[in-house]
Amino acid sequence: EIMGELLGISEVARELEEKLGVRQVVIVPGDSDETFWVQRDIGRAAVTQLKARLAPDDNVIAVTGGTTMASVAAMMSPDKKERPMHFVPARGGLGETLELQANTVCSRMADRAHADYHLLHIPDEVSQETFDRMVEEPSIKNVLEMIRAARIVVHGIGEAETMAKRRHASPEHLRMIERHDAVAEAFGYYFNAEGEIVHRVKTVGIQLEELDDMDTVIAVAGGKSKAQAIAAYAKHTSNIILVTDEGAAKELLTCY
Ligand code: BG6
Repeated sequence: EIMGELLGISEVARELEEKLGVRQVVIVPGDSDETFWVQRDIGRAAVTQLKARLAPDDNVIAVTGGTTMASVAAMMSPDKKERPMHFVPARGGLGETLELQANTVCSRMADRAHADYHLLHIPDEVSQETFDRMVEEPSIKNVLEMIRAARIVVHGIGEAETMAKRRHASPEHLRMIERHDAVAEAFGYYFNAEGEIVHRVKTVGIQLEELDDMDTVIAVAGGKSKAQAIAAYAKHTSNIILVTDEGAAKELLTCY
């Protein structure tokens, strides 16, 4: 607490980089749990981070869904240097409503960036047989290859239980999350407080292990209520630029 009061926001960021062991921490003022536009500020800061890391030629950017990612999309704008950007969803469906799906975020983001995009049309609930056949479809295969070429990922982080409920997880799934003390979720993976994977939603696209080799991974998550989830996820994945808010950041400091 006291530390958070005494240190300026950028000192808190440096402190957190060290404690979380991540590549970079960017903090916007306020707490998105309490003030709704703070999420937009996270979105704006994420766009700045993304643009700072674009390559001059080709940029395939994989994005996930969620409300924070929707804010990133809302704050997106064309690149002044006109570096080509190409947006794809990071993974197949995870059970979100249309508004919050990666496909939706992807097309909005591309729209606002004046860039192109490709969507992944694989329904969530299909038999293994149908699934196997779908991923062999040329149009889907093509998008999956593009996703494989992504060097930049932008994704949200959520609380395990909140995310499972939002995605209408089955009672067994919910029980499992509880039994394994899952606290965090990031693109279909559930983690306990130690950062161990306790469950993964099976779907196509980028797998967690692949994040380590990405050039740029921007994780967007704010609000005091997400501090524990962010801490757990950061234990698993250190190759991230965390864009968060003061509410989460100050709470995170008390975790260490
Ligand atoms: C999504 C991720 O981007 O954001 C999820 O795929 C994450 O893993 C979710 O949990 C968080 O959503 P929100 O609405 O809290 O930003």
